[in-house]
Amino acid sequence: MQEIQRRPIGVFDSGVGGLTVLRELNRQLPEESILYFADTARLPYGTRSAEEILQFVREILHWMREREVKMVIMACNTSSALALEAVRQEFDFPILGIILPGARAAVRTGRRIGVIATPATAASHAYQQAILEANPEARVWEVGCPEFVPLIESNRIRDPYTQQVARQYLQPLLDRQIDTLIYGCTHYPHLEPVLKKLLPRSVRLVDPAQWLVRAIDRELELMGLKHLKTALPTQFYTSGCPQDFASLSQQWLGRLPEVEQIQLASVPAT
Ligand code: DGL
Repeated sequence: MQEIQRRPIGVFDSGVGGLTVLRELNRQLPEESILYFADTARLPYGTRSAEEILQFVREILHWMREREVKMVIMACNTSSALALEAVRQEFDFPILGIILPGARAAVRTGRRIGVIATPATAASHAYQQAILEANPEARVWEVGCPEFVPLIESNRIRDPYTQQVARQYLQPLLDRQIDTLIYGCTHYPHLEPVLKKLLPRSVRLVDPAQWLVRAIDRELELMGLKHLKTALPTQFYTSGCPQDFASLSQQWLGRLPEVEQIQLASVPAT
């Protein structure tokens, strides 16, 4: 096997949201080795400006290039909505975002589609655009949910306050009688137990991670980059506190991961 197939896939998010993508990668593509970066020192991304997000993403991609990844997955909707197009030309490895696969999955059955997302993703209307491109007849409503990521990152998923906040965010979508709800932020599948209690059974939940990983599979195949032997253990890195990231992640990973702290080099803005 050539060297390049053996290289890891770089996956990044602002925090533990990307673990919902990692879970799908492990399920669908268990032979692939993963390098996971969580930018917890600068989280949340969803209330930052487009310029800041683009700059953070560029720094992460420069670092990932040094680590010799074969592909990068933006396991972050906010980065995919605001930075994907701009950075694609700058790097010589494939970079995949999560919005297009999620939008395409939603229109397969949905006609009245709700999207819950970070304020930055909702304001970009990236989902609305991608959904309407796939089906111009669909109706789309996007709701920015600024409190969700801080609540998840501070491990308050089971707190009654989280349910109260979720009810407020979902109400306008329920009023529109949505038939489909997209998790427009990779953190939100962690809220599934809370959201399911508030949604009628008829509403179909779409986790774009599932569809993103199918797209990754196809891309690896097409580019001849697939790894077919045993994967190396996932390597975790963070810009913030490694112990905090490890202890929060444990509930989803089923083990306490080893996490290394790194400092990203700043790169000049283009
Ligand atoms: N999980 C990320 C997303 O999908 C970012 C959340 C945040 O840091 O605000 O948008």
